[in-house]
Order: sequence, then structure tokens, then C-alpha cells
Amino acid sequence: MLVVENLTKTYAGRSVLQNISFAIRPQSFTVVLGPSGAGKTTLMRTILQLVRLEQGRIWFGDHDLTRCSPTQLRASRAHIATVAQQFNLVRRRTALENCLGGRLSELPLWRCWLGHFPLSLQREALLALERVRLLEVAFQRADQLSGGQQQRVAIARALTQRARLLLADEPVASLDPETAHTILQLLTSLCAREGLTIVCNLHQVELARQYGDHVLGIRAGRLVLDKPTAQLTDHDIDCIYSHP
Ligand SMILES: Nc1ncnc2c1ncn2[C@@H]1O[C@H](COP(=O)(O)OP(=O)(O)O)[C@@H](O)[C@H]1O
Ligand SMILES: [Mg+2]
Repeated sequence: MLVVENLTKTYAGRSVLQNISFAIRPQSFTVVLGPSGAGKTTLMRTILQLVRLEQGRIWFGDHDLTRCSPTQLRASRAHIATVAQQFNLVRRRTALENCLGGRLSELPLWRCWLGHFPLSLQREALLALERVRLLEVAFQRADQLSGGQQQRVAIARALTQRARLLLADEPVASLDPETAHTILQLLTSLCAREGLTIVCNLHQVELARQYGDHVLGIRAGRLVLDKPTAQLTDHDIDCIYSHP
């Protein structure tokens, strides 16, 4: 589904990602594990082409996102959803409206201005909220919801978007431990039951061991681990977290 080849990124002459290559299989749940500052967020931003690379290819299906036309890039991005640590919702909009935001790109501008969404789309967004068990707060403003609820709205927005790939950047870093487990269990079930492919940045080893089926380990901008979670050893963890 996603193949990354030789990604290299520098900021002001300092190397942040060095020759990173890996492949993500469809319907897999991959955890990108690494300490703070390792380059996890930068990696996700490069996949989305939000930062320019010095070198590397990013294949999403048949398209190389680093070289395709702006139109093709937009079309590919429509299949990729993101979930961030700080939830990234429009605070003054309702949960339902935030979900509908996942489909803004395919509507004519006048509909967006008037907030005039086709009924079929509203129905789809409500179904997405139901799938994350939030139907009862569909008409509440995002800023009135708890952190865990807001993150579930962000996931429902990804479902409304009909994304095939979800990039989650530390989606549980702002949540208490119990809520963190709820969110990761939800992501796991969406992956297993609905065929969503998930790449999830985490810095907590225990959560990485518990969730997801594959681990990519990043240390100081280098990929130091690429294996199924079930084969993860204590030595692997030391490789990621020991000083370079
Ligand atoms: N826009 C930027 N300009 C300069 N340096 C940056 C920028 N973004 C990230 N970095 C640096 O790149 C490194 C990796 O950061 P980041 O990808 O945020 O790591 P992580 O998400 O694993 O914590 C850090 O040293 C950070 O300071
Ligand atoms: Mg980060």
C-alpha cells in the first residue's frame, strides 16, 4: 500500500531522516516507535508531502507522491487521513460537522460556505460517529467533548473521509492511560474489521508491544528496526532507546 524508499531529510544542514526505507502492507497496523526527537513526526509529514525531501520516493499504490502532479497528489491525499496528538478539530463546530470536514475537498465551494451538505453525506458521517460509539454527541460542539471523545471524532472524520490509510501521530499522548487504551483498541478493531491500514507513531514501548502487528523503530533519524511485534525482543528496544 505504501512503499518508502531512501527518504532523506535535512533541516539547516542537520540530518533528520537518513535513508529510510520500508513497506506498509494493506490492512496492517504498524507502530513507528522511537524517542522524542527521533524523526517520527517528520516522517509522517514527508509521507504527506508537507515537507520537501532531499532524496527518496514515496509510493502510494502506483503513484510516487514525490513526483506526481498536484492533481494526483490531491487525489492520493484524499485517501490518507491523519489523527494528531492535539485532536485537530474545529473547536466551534459540532462533532458531525467535523466529520463532514473530511469530505470538503469533493464538494463545490458554495456548499462548504453555506454548510450545506448532501443528506447522503450527513448520513455517512452519522454512521461513522456510530462506529466510534459517539452518536449521542453528534450535535455537540467539539470543544465541549472530553479528550478521548475528541480523538474518536477525529477517527470518525477519517472514516467519513473513506480513507484507506490512517497516519496517527502520537494519538494518545494527550490522554490518560485508560482512554489511551480505548483509542488504541478502537484503531486495532478498525484495522481488523474494516480493512483500514494504520501507521501510528508512539513513544511508549508498552503500548507498541500491546497494539499493532508490526514495529518500525527509529533512532536519531535512522530506521533501526523493522519486524513483526510478536518478534520484538528487549534487545530491539535497547537498540531504539540507547544513545547513538
Ligand atoms: N521545522 C523544523 N525545522 C528544524 N528542525 C526541525 C523541524 N521539525 C523537526 N525538526 C527537528 O527534527 C528532529 C526530529 O523531530 P520530530 O520529527 O518532531 O521527532 P519526533 O516526532 O520523533 O519527536 C528534531 O531534532 C527536531 O528538532
Ligand atoms: Mg512527534
